[in-house]
Amino acid sequence: MADKMQKIEELARRRGFFWIGSEIYNGLSGFYDYGHLGASVKRNWENLWREYFLGINANFVEIEPAEVMHEKVFIASGHAESFVDPITKCKKCGNIERADHILEEVLKKNFEGLSAADMSKLLKKHKIRCSKCKGPLEEVGIFNMMFPLEVGVENPQKAYLRGETAQGVYVNFSRVFEQLRKQLPMGIAIVSRVFRNEISPRNLLIRMREFTQAELQIFFDPDCIKDHPDFSSVKDYELRVFPVNGRASGKIENIKCQDLAGRLPKFYVYYMTLVQKFYIDVMKIPLKFFRFRELSDEEKAFYNKYHWDVELDMSIGWKEVGGVHYRTDHDLGGHQKVSKKDMSVSIEGKKILPHVLELSFGVDRNVFALLDLFYDEEKDRTVFHFPRMLAPYDCAVFPLVSKDGLDEKAEEVRTLLRKRFSVFYDDSGSIGRRYRRIDEIGVPAAVTIDHQTLEDGTVTVRDRDSMKQERVEIGLLKEYLEKFLNTHSS
Ligand code: GAP
Repeated sequence: MADKMQKIEELARRRGFFWIGSEIYNGLSGFYDYGHLGASVKRNWENLWREYFLGINANFVEIEPAEVMHEKVFIASGHAESFVDPITKCKKCGNIERADHILEEVLKKNFEGLSAADMSKLLKKHKIRCSKCKGPLEEVGIFNMMFPLEVGVENPQKAYLRGETAQGVYVNFSRVFEQLRKQLPMGIAIVSRVFRNEISPRNLLIRMREFTQAELQIFFDPDCIKDHPDFSSVKDYELRVFPVNGRASGKIENIKCQDLAGRLPKFYVYYMTLVQKFYIDVMKIPLKFFRFRELSDEEKAFYNKYHWDVELDMSIGWKEVGGVHYRTDHDLGGHQKVSKKDMSVSIEGKKILPHVLELSFGVDRNVFALLDLFYDEEKDRTVFHFPRMLAPYDCAVFPLVSKDGLDEKAEEVRTLLRKRFSVFYDDSGSIGRRYRRIDEIGVPAAVTIDHQTLEDGTVTVRDRDSMKQERVEIGLLKEYLEKFLNTHSS
């Protein structure tokens, strides 16, 4: 539904969610700037993520390492060699595209992970030509997505803009372990920018060249992978999954954790439940839009033993927004080898090179998913039915008219609310028009000050979703809104 995408893009630009970066110079492909509304939704998402995932365990913390890192970091991690995408060039117009994307476009199937040679064969077999000029395509080659840098002037040091936040955690693992309780499991999170020289950035915030990740690396004793101390509390919880062996049928299955635990380690399954609960219970994503997609051996990232993506069903189809990655000791082992620093820890006399379970999320894709899934065109209005905690403003304050002392009273109410809530204030135009304007940016509640307010000290609170209004005493307004924002509209 490209049409919906275009409408969201237009609204996002016009009202202040996001737009192409360097816009006055015709934009820079793959880079986006967030406006005041988008930055607010993104911040809300990040803060809920932090609250939820760092709240899992007292031994989970957040750090903020540098985004530019030594080239050896990515030699050790394998990114310098393996962080590649397949590309093909048009022999006629020179256009370069991702080979798997061209195949997907034409054959309507996912080809991620297929070898370059196999992709070349498929392009030939199906006589696929350049999507721009229909010219013939070259053999498929590979392209490394890391952004290299030279740091300093004299004898410049080779470095990279990091392509994932995870490496910022691994290189700091030993230090943070010493600073915390020297216990496993230990979790280290980063919510920050990463950079990838994507060949064909597209679909707005879905495929960018600079984006934000929220990633939690959980370090644990590999002997503990088979179980989790709290597994019994989730054993009957149903995960919504799309496994490799069920792909042909296209059917999404609901599997109880205890049944999935026959195929995957319980430690892994336990964290899948936490991720699903985050989407369903915290982000309020309707279950039908959510699934875990298992990646085949060819599709898995080079560092993963188990790899299930979190996908949401948007207007452009199912899109990956996160993943649960069992990275084993791939990264600590790699850094130990290249840096020659011992990355193992000693717990009760046992020497352990911890394994890592990574919970990885793309913040921008999740923000886009909110815009896409909660966008609605209703009779007489366009509205974002965002979950209330994620909306760009908590509430709006409107004087019915800006005279008769209503505007002064409205200012008073605004000042009262501002200490606790983010408040949008507007005193111009008809009240109906003002409601439409805040519906369009998803503000969940509108507080209106009318003539009755001056008589009995009550205001009306309008619910964005039901459009119903209730009269509330100003003295009880903060408490009312607090409860309102913490409840999900049905
Ligand atoms: N540390 C693991 C890792 O980076 P990934 O699957 O490459 O794994 C994690 O990326 C998440 O980052 C993805 O699930 C997706 O949400 C987001 N992401 C990846 N590439 C992106 C891009 N080009 N633009 C926006 N988000 C992206």
